[in-house]
Amino acid sequence: MEQLPDYLFGRLNAEKLRRRSAGIDVIDFGMGNPDMPASREAVEKIHEVIEDDKAHRYARPTGIPHLLQAAADHYSELYGVQLDAEEEIVTTIGSKEGLSHLALALLGPGDFCAVPEPYFPIHKWSAVIAGAELLHIPVTDDAGEMITSLEKLDEKPKVLFLNYPHNPTSTTVDLSFFEEIVSWCRKNSVLIIHDFAYKDITFGDYKAPSILQIDDAREIAVEFFTMSKSYNMAGWRCGFCLGNREMIRLLTRIKSFFDYGLFTPIQVAAIHELRHNREQAQEIARKYDKRREVLVEGLARYGWEIPPSRGAMYVWAEIPERFRQMGSLAFAEWLLDEAEVLVSPGIGFGPAGEGHIRMSLVENTQRIRQAVRQIGKVLTREDSVA
Ligand SMILES: Cc1ncc(COP(=O)(O)O)c(C=O)c1O
Repeated sequence: MEQLPDYLFGRLNAEKLRRRSAGIDVIDFGMGNPDMPASREAVEKIHEVIEDDKAHRYARPTGIPHLLQAAADHYSELYGVQLDAEEEIVTTIGSKEGLSHLALALLGPGDFCAVPEPYFPIHKWSAVIAGAELLHIPVTDDAGEMITSLEKLDEKPKVLFLNYPHNPTSTTVDLSFFEEIVSWCRKNSVLIIHDFAYKDITFGDYKAPSILQIDDAREIAVEFFTMSKSYNMAGWRCGFCLGNREMIRLLTRIKSFFDYGLFTPIQVAAIHELRHNREQAQEIARKYDKRREVLVEGLARYGWEIPPSRGAMYVWAEIPERFRQMGSLAFAEWLLDEAEVLVSPGIGFGPAGEGHIRMSLVENTQRIRQAVRQIGKVLTREDSVA
């Protein structure tokens, strides 16, 4: 417990709430907490199923069969991947729960875990909580570069975390990336946990590949996907782990000690969404794309140039040179004080995130335009010095 730091983003969120209760209308680009609601049909489904007394008991912890089958069909239709619904899929209480319990099932003292940096905090901390040692390598979309980093490590990792589209950097990859990484990991007996939280949040013609599209991937890999982002069901806590049978068995086993799975009405609503509401994910992605465009184009007008991205719901921006030596935490605090805009400091995603901030696209376009004006005003103020 001594090793676990304050959750930095929790602290900034508390600052935001304190200001809002004092009447300051902070524009919130902090947490990746979707601001849009789940579909009406999903909400109606919950109402309908909750009326059934049988739905109030403990549910089947691994997931009710129709939900597992809906997830298998989803993978078959979207990625051409055939999965055994009972042996190769388990539901999780959101992917964060699944990721951390899988790390606990796979890792322990004496094990090494490779985590690309900057990282989504639970990728690192789940390994730390499990007692494993961390090996950091840089996030990249270049498989050769990642393999070189892995080969340079002093220790061989037991597990490699991957996450594309990536939080926080928005890095995306094509299928050939997974092909090379899977091949290297199979040769070197490294297990892969691919966090596919942003699988549907992609822009233009880009479609994010599933690692399970690689033929032999499931010999060593599992993938997590979640209803949180694709279906705006973040608070509902519904996710899936899919792929390698042994890893699914271990996750199911450890979960059977910790939890009883998801409330049945949530599972039924998730079935409905997976079966009947595919277009919603595309609609959500289009909204994030529009927001991204408004933010990036807006900031460019004030001289803050940010490269385009193909996915995820974040804008990862290098801090303008004039302010960079402040450090990302002080810069984020300064933006909160002066521009009344909350962003996440890059340092919260590990030392490799320093020099950057992450802006979550969880405000509507009108508020994004407002934020751009407020940020632009303080950036261009004569007395704005580091
Ligand atoms: C990369 C990544 N993985 C997992 C999660 C958590 O998702 P869930 O709501 O399924 O726990 C997030 C949430 O922001 C995320 O960014």
